Amino acid sequence: MEAWWRNSIGYIIYPAAYKDANGDGIGDLKGIIEKLDYLHELGIDLLWICPIFASPMKDNGYDVSDYLHVNPLFGSDEDLLTLLREAHLRGIRVLLDFAMNHTSDQHEWFVKAKEDPSSEERSYYIIKKGRRDEKGNLLPPNNWGSFFSTSAWERMPGSEDEFYLHVFAPSMPDTDWSNPKLRERYYQIARHYVDLGVDGFRMDAISHLAKNPTFEDSPLQGGKGGYVLDPSEFSNRPELLGYLKEFREKGVNENTLLVGEVGGCVQPAQARLFSERGRGPINLVFNFDTVWNNGAYGSIDKKDEEIKTDVISLKNNFMRWYENAATCDLPLYWCNHDHPRVLSQYGSVNYRAESAKMLVTTLLFLYGTPFIYQGDEIGMSNVTYDKVEDFLNDEANVDALKSMRSEGRDEETILRFWRRTNRINARTPMQWDKTSYAGFSKVAPKVKVNDNYKEGVNVQEQMEDPYSILNYFQYAISFRKNAIYNDIVNNGRLEIVDYNHPDVFAYLHRGSSTIMVISNFRPYQTYFTFNYEIGDIVLHNYDGVLLKDHVFTLRPFECYLLKIR
Ligand code: NOJ
Ligand code: CA
Repeated sequence: MEAWWRNSIGYIIYPAAYKDANGDGIGDLKGIIEKLDYLHELGIDLLWICPIFASPMKDNGYDVSDYLHVNPLFGSDEDLLTLLREAHLRGIRVLLDFAMNHTSDQHEWFVKAKEDPSSEERSYYIIKKGRRDEKGNLLPPNNWGSFFSTSAWERMPGSEDEFYLHVFAPSMPDTDWSNPKLRERYYQIARHYVDLGVDGFRMDAISHLAKNPTFEDSPLQGGKGGYVLDPSEFSNRPELLGYLKEFREKGVNENTLLVGEVGGCVQPAQARLFSERGRGPINLVFNFDTVWNNGAYGSIDKKDEEIKTDVISLKNNFMRWYENAATCDLPLYWCNHDHPRVLSQYGSVNYRAESAKMLVTTLLFLYGTPFIYQGDEIGMSNVTYDKVEDFLNDEANVDALKSMRSEGRDEETILRFWRRTNRINARTPMQWDKTSYAGFSKVAPKVKVNDNYKEGVNVQEQMEDPYSILNYFQYAISFRKNAIYNDIVNNGRLEIVDYNHPDVFAYLHRGSSTIMVISNFRPYQTYFTFNYEIGDIVLHNYDGVLLKDHVFTLRPFECYLLKIR
């Protein structure tokens, strides 16, 4: 039997920004429960909910202080049970986000580790003695840098000469996966949730579970203060596969969906080891090859005009995975809570409806299980904050701001850069209607709402408009879920048409019938040579078909899903 997720439409929820049911300005589980009918109607049958476990929220829940209880900000353990029950009643499965690479420094394990050097919990973390320079000053054990700060090491409180490793923020100490006792703790937690009825996990940052066991200096030079961010020291190391296999065997069932976030370093060959159908320990590998294909990543010195989608590279990236990892199930997504809004990246606010519809059409019929990020279905776009301080409710930005300022970047440059790249862009409240705060909350939300909810970027108004982005999404999803289309997408050979076209992303699937998607990725008119015969126009985001002498004229962001004769 085919795995259930091959027929699912996923949807990513960032709970703090989805729906606030109890009126404290923060989204919560009851809010998600309220919206299950909406999601069901949209055609969603799989939710990935970003972290909901107890957390001091230094990294928005990825810093867990208690895995066995729901964060009171989001509700109670009882609410989670209700959510699972109500979702299942509607045929919606639920994945929880499980951050196991690190805990919060406020987790009981870390607290015990600090208090008692002989405790078992101390062995759950990576604690090493520091080094001394010629003058006898204490230095971290090696030159590894972290993602969210400079050195990846922080002094172990209460110890004279030890440090603990944190590949993310100092408040998120890494757990030591080479310790079987630690691993067993995580399997117990996973089993607890599987027993409650959770259908799977999005496994956070799993690339990093295994570290280079020598803990020697990275050979790379440079970095701030001599600390280099060299992910190869703690990403996708050989021991990782064994850990994942054990997690599958001891932590979950065969039918539990495991989605692993692997960052950008995993390539298809390695992904096959992780997720080959019937053999790999996990099911979907999230790699971000198709996310920043417009030159925005690290683009601090670029002008906005220099940011342009590289459509050929996008095609290459999707196809590299399809050609080399089609023995795996793959996820399909444009972005998640760590990225700017796709509409502002590959689409355009000037063509909001056209580009939102084009993007979802392009994505849905490629190969894999689609994951839609909350708000994309109404065309939500990046924030328009007017000062850098507005971005500081994310800990990851605090250090980044210091460092950009110390490099002499002025506020305007930083603002321009963050407006187009910052992950805050994806974390503004979901826009439900045109009442105050977009119907997200009755009180002023902790995170500012994007003003465009007053201009039609909200669910309620789009529900009433048959030509809205939302209604298009619903219609497109219904085709993607149709058994015949689903079979064509999953099993019909995928081919790119006119690979070298710089503006148009076109592909077809040869299955029980042939379907073809043609998408113009530009805010201007383009042309596309078409040597087929149209059987049916299934989806189209414009009125009227401009096709003459085998050439399509494609208007800004125009797209088609066609059946070919
Ligand atoms: C990846 C998560 O998606 C991101 O939001 C988080 O900051 C890091 N992992 C650390 O857990
Ligand atoms: Ca709330």
